[in-house]
Amino acid sequence: MTPNEGLRVALSQARQQTDSLFDLVHPAALYERPIPERHRIIFYLGHLEAFDWNLLSGALDLPAFHAGFDQLFSFGIDPGSQDLPTDQPADWPAADEVRAYSARVRGGLHTALAQAPARLLHVAIEHRLMHAETFAYMLHHLPFAQKTPPASAAMAPSGPAPQMRMVEIPGGTATLGQKRDGGFGWDNEFEQHQVPVPAFSIAQYKVTNGDYLEFVKAGAAAPHFWTCRQGRWCYHGMFEDIPLPLDWPVYVSLDEAQAYARWKGMSLPTEAQFHRAAYHGGAEEAAAFALENVDFRSWDPEPVTASPRNALGVSQMVGNGWEWTATRFEPFAGFEPFPFYPGYSANFFDGQHYVLKGGSPRTAGCLLRPSFRNWFRPAYPYIYATFRLVEN
Ligand SMILES: [Fe+2]
Repeated sequence: MTPNEGLRVALSQARQQTDSLFDLVHPAALYERPIPERHRIIFYLGHLEAFDWNLLSGALDLPAFHAGFDQLFSFGIDPGSQDLPTDQPADWPAADEVRAYSARVRGGLHTALAQAPARLLHVAIEHRLMHAETFAYMLHHLPFAQKTPPASAAMAPSGPAPQMRMVEIPGGTATLGQKRDGGFGWDNEFEQHQVPVPAFSIAQYKVTNGDYLEFVKAGAAAPHFWTCRQGRWCYHGMFEDIPLPLDWPVYVSLDEAQAYARWKGMSLPTEAQFHRAAYHGGAEEAAAFALENVDFRSWDPEPVTASPRNALGVSQMVGNGWEWTATRFEPFAGFEPFPFYPGYSANFFDGQHYVLKGGSPRTAGCLLRPSFRNWFRPAYPYIYATFRLVEN
């Protein structure tokens, strides 16, 4: 085995994953901006390679060959700023130039990767896989006519929404974060610690489109992923609109989730409550996660009833949509930013972002570890984010 062989294979698989996403975009749409707060698609074509280059070239002593692109494609936009980006397609280089840069980055890194520190390779792999998800939800909001479905894009069947049922979770401690001497984790996953959690009850299922439809009938606005066709609500899927699947989880912003919970006289789980209900440890649990609607298995959700209950009687805590928590994204005690990527988490400890846990149909399998934390702003409506209710 040559050094880093497993990680180099994982990086090459992650590259195939992101390359296949760009192949779905019609060439003329590369300069579109499907989400007004984010960069145009062309940025991401350069960003994934520029990130790897900026991360690894210093450590590997590789000389810059296109400092302009290294800079242009270095960072995305945090979609919280008040002003929407105003750049024009003509402000960006031609796609062929970006592809040539990308090829040269991969060629330049190729032989050197065996010498790269393993932690940096993990960062490159997981950064790319996280973008495989954020890029998918960006593509989700690109008009159907500007993308080509892959051969297998069938949607799950749907049926009536199940009855809501609450499950008692006994009081105890939740273990958050991970140990320093364990496997790879991002800066915000450290350090491991215990949080006491009093007994509470949590819904067996995620809140469904059918549940949320009652709220909309009572006057709430429809979520971003719904569209009205001839007076009937549809779910706006990745490649087609379908009549609202009542037993699928509803994709919502945190603001919408909290408004629904208030309407029901309930709450959203805290991050610690989520851990109590979701994670019990052991190989069996990890094997169960692999069977969920995760790891690029599908483009859209499936029914909330499609998974077996876990040991506590709760279904689908992991997969089929991230779950919003009521917890602000903050550092754990002992937090230390990565010296090579100081802003990864620290730029978002501003009280304006909330933690999501679990994973979506487009979340890579390696990101399903219990300590992984995702975070977004409460009003951000574009992501694969679901929720469930708790009673304290
Ligand atoms: Fe990035």
